[in-house]
Amino acid sequence: MRETAPVYYDEQSGSWHVFRYDDVQRTLSEYATFSSHMGGDDASGTGQLFASSLIATDPPRHRQLRSLVTQAFTPKAVDALAPRIAGLTDELLGGIAARGSADLIKELAYPLPVIVISELMGIPAQDRERFKQWSDVIVSQTRSGSASENHIAANMEMTQYFLALIDERRSRPGHDLISTLLGAEIDGQKLTVPELLGFCALLLVAGNETTTNLIGNAVLCLTENPGTMDRLLREPALLPQTIEEVLRFRSPVQSMYRMTVAETALGDEVVPAGAPVVAWIGSANRDERQFQRPAEFDIDRGQNRHLAFGHGVHFCLGAPLARLEARIALEALLSRLPGLSLDQGAGLERMESTIVYGLKALPV
Ligand code: HEM
Repeated sequence: MRETAPVYYDEQSGSWHVFRYDDVQRTLSEYATFSSHMGGDDASGTGQLFASSLIATDPPRHRQLRSLVTQAFTPKAVDALAPRIAGLTDELLGGIAARGSADLIKELAYPLPVIVISELMGIPAQDRERFKQWSDVIVSQTRSGSASENHIAANMEMTQYFLALIDERRSRPGHDLISTLLGAEIDGQKLTVPELLGFCALLLVAGNETTTNLIGNAVLCLTENPGTMDRLLREPALLPQTIEEVLRFRSPVQSMYRMTVAETALGDEVVPAGAPVVAWIGSANRDERQFQRPAEFDIDRGQNRHLAFGHGVHFCLGAPLARLEARIALEALLSRLPGLSLDQGAGLERMESTIVYGLKALPV
């Protein structure tokens, strides 16, 4: 598509698709033309939870909402979580070394980010299985149009859950993010209930599936590249650049949506106002105009300006946290399970989603 139809109109869905790096970067960042407000307040319940969230808001409201949570996610604030993340990783890996086999998604890559974000938000750890089910359903929708019954049910259950939690925190505030948001004001106004719900849902869904897939995709890349795995065993300092290459090569978020607010020229096409546009991050990260030998997994790329965390005002709020969790998880895996290899007999199955990219299970 990058060669033959870099800006493509899909008649069936009525949406435009953008594949080249420069166009994807522009679509993600030029909010005056490409709005993040997708109008998710439809009667079906689809997207309602996210409609008033940061990710679906344009400046200036976006800037105000984002400023309420940036402090909790700065690299410095996140670094303070490192000992807890390392402790959790150790606990989760505890049984695996002795047993000799495991599904790394189920036993490490999924629980680690969920527990970390749940603790930040003050959510009881025992509820994490329910989030897994809800967010699986939510991200499995491929935006093909109408929402499935499962999708509507998951949205409703998650909404009920958060409403009860918000009520509880209102009467008994703690030191968690939800309590901070409940106390926050913008121009003397408290956040609305839909805005509070949007924050809760976004942090849980955005932060979980994505980081799970980053860790899973990293293990897959390393087992496919044993030379790189050996180098990392000798030089763990190469892990950060390895993680950046995993983000480029197997991007956990493959696509993001925008809606044009005005007619605009994109590549050789003219996209009308009010048109849904899909920015294909996964394709941009393999664009030969930006990366040399893009189909090769190469941790020695000098500059790696991938778009895996987006670009511009919506650049991923959780990027420092995701990078830290991935680094700690991989460090622990390499040092505690040095002979790590895929269970070849098991077969690998990808998640059913056009938005997130990762494996359903990772038997090792
Ligand atoms: C935004 C990817 C982890 C919270 C984004 C965006 C991308 C992304 C592509 C931009 C969306 C857009 O332009 O519309 C990822 C990936 C992750 C990850 C690949 C892991 C590898 C996290 C984590 C958290 C998080 C751990 C929080 C705990 C958010 C939030 C936004 C966001 C709140 C919205 C920011 C805004 O609209 O200003 N993420 N994310 N993400 N991410 Fe992440």
